[in-house]
Amino acid sequence: MIKKVGIIGSGTMGSGIAQVAATAGCAVKLFDVNSDALKTAEADLERILARLVEKGRIDVGEKNRVQTNIQYVSSLKDLADSHLTIEAIVENLKIKKNVFQELESYVSETCIIASNTSSLSIASIASSLTLPERCIGIHFFNPAPLMKLVEVIPAIQTSEKTLQTAVQTIKDWGKTVAIAKDTPGFIVNRVARPFYGEALRIYEEGIADFATIDWALKTKGGFRMGPFELMDFIGNDVNYTVTETVFEAFYYDPRYKPAFTQKRFAEAGYLGRKSGKGYYNYTEGAENPTPREEDVLGHRIFDRVLIMLINEAADALFLNIASAEDIDNAMTKGVNYPKGLLAWADEKGIEWCVQKMDALYAEYHEDRYRCSPLLRKMKRENKTFY
Ligand code: NAI
Repeated sequence: MIKKVGIIGSGTMGSGIAQVAATAGCAVKLFDVNSDALKTAEADLERILARLVEKGRIDVGEKNRVQTNIQYVSSLKDLADSHLTIEAIVENLKIKKNVFQELESYVSETCIIASNTSSLSIASIASSLTLPERCIGIHFFNPAPLMKLVEVIPAIQTSEKTLQTAVQTIKDWGKTVAIAKDTPGFIVNRVARPFYGEALRIYEEGIADFATIDWALKTKGGFRMGPFELMDFIGNDVNYTVTETVFEAFYYDPRYKPAFTQKRFAEAGYLGRKSGKGYYNYTEGAENPTPREEDVLGHRIFDRVLIMLINEAADALFLNIASAEDIDNAMTKGVNYPKGLLAWADEKGIEWCVQKMDALYAEYHEDRYRCSPLLRKMKRENKTFY
């Protein structure tokens, strides 16, 4: 039973994960090399919990309980008695490996050592340990206390016991677990790529402007935010970097190719909400374009983005990245998609999916539009995902 949890890095993710574990009743030690980061994390938690009390979501007793469950520590050695440690420091393999090595010299042999990395391979991080079988990826989404999904990623070195304990612990913390293979982007950051990439491509071809594409995905598809609104929300710098990292990690598979439009926006400092301007203007009183609300155009745009998403999800299943249920849960609970993509494929019909992909390929003759072999096989065998 995991009772004592050590978190390394008290930034956005580490402090959120600490809150989740403390709320679930664990004794948490939160460590950061930067004492200001620890102070900020403590002050932020006070503010977040005070707001929850104000809204009547928790009482003062609960607020105090969560706060006393977290100790802010300034030495990695203080994490020595942890049953589980989760690292959420800077996304740099060399630095992470050094921290893991030092940590292993303090903790007991049974302590699980996890990383919250979004883009590094768990196998490479695990290789820094004397006991790599205790290493695993536990990937939360931002903001960790609100997002239901956690991807759990066993490396090829990870033991079954480490996997089972990690899965059970994350479930005990009230989260939905999706188990993913140790491959670039895991589930969400891989399967979601076409939501941005195909929307950008549609824009670059001059089929529609940002506002119209967002309108199509929201009204025809039921997505809470359009792709351009979402990229502005995430930050064009951050979103572009994820795409570029996934593209490189897949040996430049054209399916993940980044778009110049987004690169230029990031280079120009048009980062989105955080810089006041992205695809939209966020300064007070600014006028933004109105969408061309044409039904036929809206359906065309939505169908094209949807089929690319379905194709990506089907291919992830084809390559055993995760189970169908976990792929669907990942997208509905990690990025709030209105439906699971494989369930959506069943609803649209597998034949429709293959036809749409083949039509795109016939039009462009680009490898980007190749239909997943799984969809083709399912069509032949008249099968559905569920
Ligand atoms: P952040 O920049 O907000 O926080 C990182 C913290 O780690 C900083 O407080 C820094 O002082 C500390 N740190 C740096 N080196 C350290 C060391 N050697 N020892 C102890 N502390 C150290 O970063 P963020 O966004 O919280 O990301 C952390 C990790 O989580 C990264 O691996 C990132 O890829 C991953 N991640 C980030 C998500 C996001 O949306 N921000 C989502 C999911 C995963």
